[in-house]
Amino acid sequence: MQEFLSCAVELAKQAGKIQLDSLKKDHHIEYKGAINLVTEVDKKCEALIVGTLAKHFPHHDILAEEGSGKRKQSEYRWIIDPLDGTINYAHQFPFFCVSIALEFQGELVLGVIFDPNRDELFTAVKGEGAFLNGKRLQVSNSPDLVHALLATGFAYNVQEEQADNLDHFAHFIKKARAVRRPGSAAIDLAWIACGRIDGFWELFLKPWDIAAGVVIIREAGGQVSSFDGGSFDVYGDEILTSNGKIHQEMVDVLCQNR
Ligand code: IPD
Ligand code: CA
Ligand code: CA
Repeated sequence: MQEFLSCAVELAKQAGKIQLDSLKKDHHIEYKGAINLVTEVDKKCEALIVGTLAKHFPHHDILAEEGSGKRKQSEYRWIIDPLDGTINYAHQFPFFCVSIALEFQGELVLGVIFDPNRDELFTAVKGEGAFLNGKRLQVSNSPDLVHALLATGFAYNVQEEQADNLDHFAHFIKKARAVRRPGSAAIDLAWIACGRIDGFWELFLKPWDIAAGVVIIREAGGQVSSFDGGSFDVYGDEILTSNGKIHQEMVDVLCQNR
């Protein structure tokens, strides 16, 4: 696993450097949907990460957001978001990252998230703890919702889809200390792991948004589930994650109108 971790860390740092170096340049923006953007930097980072992984581990599956991954029917699958927070990036709002995870036999076993703006590297290997720049991580101790800082986000289908998360957002605003919408799900999850955020939920995220963060949160002692508290599926439509202490209260809020 050490070889995989070293490679993922190196690639996350290299991609983060590309992001920072190009941040203030004019970007070539393409539209995957009305509010769903992709820049040349997303593609450049993905090409670097996928190209290098494919060279080092030619038999592994790779699932990457911009579509350059390959299926090899391997027990290993890399899950990559080359730039999480693209809208922030396009607006020079300094909250974006690189997210790289590894699944083995259908289980998430390794997560790396690099935030180049803060030079923060979050890493975890299943069973070995979670770390921020080498320092061990632990989720927060906030005991209940009224003392909790929450985060969420809205999917790119928010303008058409009935399940737009605005109902849940309104309910949590009335119950929690505060709710943020930072714009990079991967960093939101990394911040649950290091205790800056106490709880997070979102609809319709993709595996590349959350796979690495889930490993890091679990290794930092946090809880990850579906909205009703049931088992979590990285390929499913919902994620609820927290420090564990506020989890049931969050389940109650998410399920109150079902
Ligand atoms: C997005 C971000 C955002 C979340 C969106 C994601 P992208 O990823 O993680 O916080 O709310 O649902 O799609 O497109 O910037 O990689
Ligand atoms: Ca993403
Ligand atoms: Ca992305």
